[in-house]
Amino acid sequence: MDTKALLAKELAGIIGMEAQEIENMFETPPNREMGDIALPCFKLARVLRKAPPAIAAELAQKLSLPEAVREARAEGGYLNFFLDGNKRVRTVLEAVAAKNEAYGSSDKGAGKTICIDYSSINIAKRCHIGHLSTTAIGNALYKIYSFLGYECVGINHLGDWGTQFGKLICAYKLWSNRESIEKGGIDALVELYVRFNNEADEEMENQARAWFKKIEDDDAEAMEIFNWFKDITLRDVSRIYDLLGIKFDSYNGESFYKDKWQSVVAELKEKELLVPSEGAQVVMLEDYNMPPCILLKNDGASVYATRDIAAAMYRKKTYDFHKCLYVVAYQQNLHFRQFIKVIELMGYDWAKDLIHVPFGMVSFEGQTLSTRKGNIVYLDELLERAIVKAGEIIDQKNPELPDKETVARQVGVGAVLFYDLYNSRIKDVDFWWDRALAFEGETGPYVQYTHARACSVLAKSGVSATDALNNADCDYSALDNSEAQEVIALLEGFPQAVDAACEKNEPCVVLRHTVALAQAFNRFYFEHRIITEDGNATNANLKLCAAVKTVIKTGLSLAGIEAPNKM
Ligand code: ARG
Repeated sequence: MDTKALLAKELAGIIGMEAQEIENMFETPPNREMGDIALPCFKLARVLRKAPPAIAAELAQKLSLPEAVREARAEGGYLNFFLDGNKRVRTVLEAVAAKNEAYGSSDKGAGKTICIDYSSINIAKRCHIGHLSTTAIGNALYKIYSFLGYECVGINHLGDWGTQFGKLICAYKLWSNRESIEKGGIDALVELYVRFNNEADEEMENQARAWFKKIEDDDAEAMEIFNWFKDITLRDVSRIYDLLGIKFDSYNGESFYKDKWQSVVAELKEKELLVPSEGAQVVMLEDYNMPPCILLKNDGASVYATRDIAAAMYRKKTYDFHKCLYVVAYQQNLHFRQFIKVIELMGYDWAKDLIHVPFGMVSFEGQTLSTRKGNIVYLDELLERAIVKAGEIIDQKNPELPDKETVARQVGVGAVLFYDLYNSRIKDVDFWWDRALAFEGETGPYVQYTHARACSVLAKSGVSATDALNNADCDYSALDNSEAQEVIALLEGFPQAVDAACEKNEPCVVLRHTVALAQAFNRFYFEHRIITEDGNATNANLKLCAAVKTVIKTGLSLAGIEAPNKM
């Protein structure tokens, strides 16, 4: 347990409150002369029915201090704690050593399942930059929740349903053949669809409808072609997922629910929630300030929302999730509010566990993307470009580097992920090459470079990170300087940053903490000599280095970013 948690536990015993509640009340005093941690006693006044200064004084007296706390001083309505520098350093560094790369992890999610619906690409379309955020954020959340002991289920809710698939098969039958689709891949499919929309007459539209009907009815030939188109799309996108190191636990998309939404509709009817409206069937939501949620079209076909309700039911039944997250752009806010409300109206209290995790739009070097204008950036091309550019920078900076290709991939892909994840997700992202790939400033390469720097210090000293972390012969007074203390404070706060990122579904919280740690370490590195004549002081410095290296690596990995040892 870190110092704050220990203090909170002690205080909780005296006050008779939850330790976590107390821990949340802790503040950081405005300057170090006033202490390192402060407990404002104003909120306690109501519970304990005493004036805040009296409470602070009483607590100061009764409290038995954890080892790392030197003094508790009552000052007005505040109880200020002064940490014992050396002991605090030792406690923090030993905590990192004890868990190594698992430092910050916990088992608070044990026994709980989190479904994460992310990336969720559309079949027979090419994946573009618009799918970057859902993929990056979803993957980071998967890692963060897993790190905290939750069982995660990553679901790629494929967009594989709709009349366009009838059109595609019709176009394929008329104008193409197996060989040229196999050869042309996803582009050939997109081309067929565009051609259909340009050239289709009444007769072809009829054929397309008939083909779609066959897909609905599980006709063998139609299903074979449909599944093959899906394969081609997934094969294409697998290059992206391989680069990012992403795997999904389920690819059950919209078509998976083609025989499952009917029972949802029956239930809605039975519960008298469904009403006719202009030929369609809807659930009225005016009491909740929302337009009606359409669930059946005039022709009795399902819509996006119908399949999402069926999917939520299926996931609840199959995974019994604690939470089901949907990492989807804010443009779909209304859709999520609507169908989640419908599930609530059906009487399912777990509707509250369906959580839309929205994010902003991505533009590219100042230009919004539009398929129509043709200025579209495909995700695979973006990543491949990033790798080439990272390779060029490495060639310049460090031409002798071994295994340059691997490092270029780690840096290029890392730069893109970092850039997307560094701001709170609701903000729009404008992607610029030079900003993403810079080695200075708050960027992926900067943090990776700091990690490599810590590795090289250790390499120079000839001790491995693990040995440095576990070295008992340390003179911690060597770290009694403000630069080292700042590093220690950030190491100490890392587990809380991971918790907060999880709590808010905001990967940027961990990433920002990791950047602050990298910056603090660099200030330490430039101000102090790490390897000196004093052996035990050197050991303390190296232990700090190893702890920083370890925690930066973890912080990056929670964002899906790798940390090369050399770059
Ligand atoms: N395929 C959709 C799109 O690209 C996203 C699906 C999100 N997931 C969901 N369960 N609705 O816009």
